[in-house]
Amino acid sequence: MADPVRKIRRALLFPPARHCKPNERQTERRNGFSGMKLLTVKDMVMDFGGLRALNHVDLDVEKGEIVALIGPNGAGKTTFFNCITGIYTPTCGHILLSSDGRHFERINGLKPNQVTRRGMARTFQNIRLFLNMSVLENIMIGRHCRTRSGIFGAIFRPPSTRREEQDVVDVSYEILRKIGLDGAADETAANLPYGDQRRLEIGRAMATDPSLILLDEPAAGMNPQETMELVDLIKRIRSGEGITMLLIEHDMKLVMTLAQRIFVMDYGKMIAEGAPGEIKTNPLVIKAYLGEDAHA
Ligand SMILES: Nc1ncnc2c1ncn2[C@@H]1O[C@H](COP(=O)(O)OP(=O)(O)OP(=O)(O)O)[C@@H](O)[C@H]1O
Ligand SMILES: [Mg+2]
Repeated sequence: MADPVRKIRRALLFPPARHCKPNERQTERRNGFSGMKLLTVKDMVMDFGGLRALNHVDLDVEKGEIVALIGPNGAGKTTFFNCITGIYTPTCGHILLSSDGRHFERINGLKPNQVTRRGMARTFQNIRLFLNMSVLENIMIGRHCRTRSGIFGAIFRPPSTRREEQDVVDVSYEILRKIGLDGAADETAANLPYGDQRRLEIGRAMATDPSLILLDEPAAGMNPQETMELVDLIKRIRSGEGITMLLIEHDMKLVMTLAQRIFVMDYGKMIAEGAPGEIKTNPLVIKAYLGEDAHA
């Protein structure tokens, strides 16, 4: 007889996907969930009314990797990030998140702050900073999800609250140093040059103590010098902080330099996955970017 605990665990991890025709669902592949995967997305669909923005998408990220998600404009990349970070609720599919690569939690339906607390932080395609606040305060806000003090602490200010507040400031300065913005701690975020605002958003994500950071077009609008500094920063975050990264990017030079694995999306479907060398020569990818006559 099947072990009842395993049966319940399996039912919790893989409840029947709603709103999808059963024959559209892919078969579960248990071996896809082993190893040191931090994020596993299976069979995800996102419909906006009559528009299917994500069409049975699979993607996984292993601990320590830099993975890129690329595709032409409107392919569904940002929608994918919005679904896995709780901004949208996917129509169906499974999102499994792990902080250690061993224990998974199904995070469908969680709110963005709950997803962040579980170790997945993100930046946005259009920068979303608190522009009227200082650079330091923007980082401190990211740290808030790791604090415990509540209303009682705010009113009576016991030593534990004061210690925690000092810790938030110390950690925030340390992050500013790592992203090279320690000299601008008191500057208003709106006054920072564009490239520094993008780095500040990455710093805010780092402040949440994540195991996985999602970057949505981190190099968009940057000049070549800023892009080079960004590549350097992403490499340092991965090697120095041990943070895994999944990034959306249109700058192919950056993608090919940084990513160990690349997923390619087109019209809501994942059309290819592989190492940079494979992706560069994949006929489906070339067609998606250059059109039908690419081979002519
Ligand atoms: N909230 C929404 N309501 C309706 N349609 C949406 C919504 N968000 C995205 N879409 C549609 O979903 C599709 C995918 O959009 P998405 O922004 O995910 O593309 P993208 O791959 O990030 O493109 P880009 O590279 O230009 O940023 C588009 O057709 C878009 O118009
Ligand atoms: Mg986008």
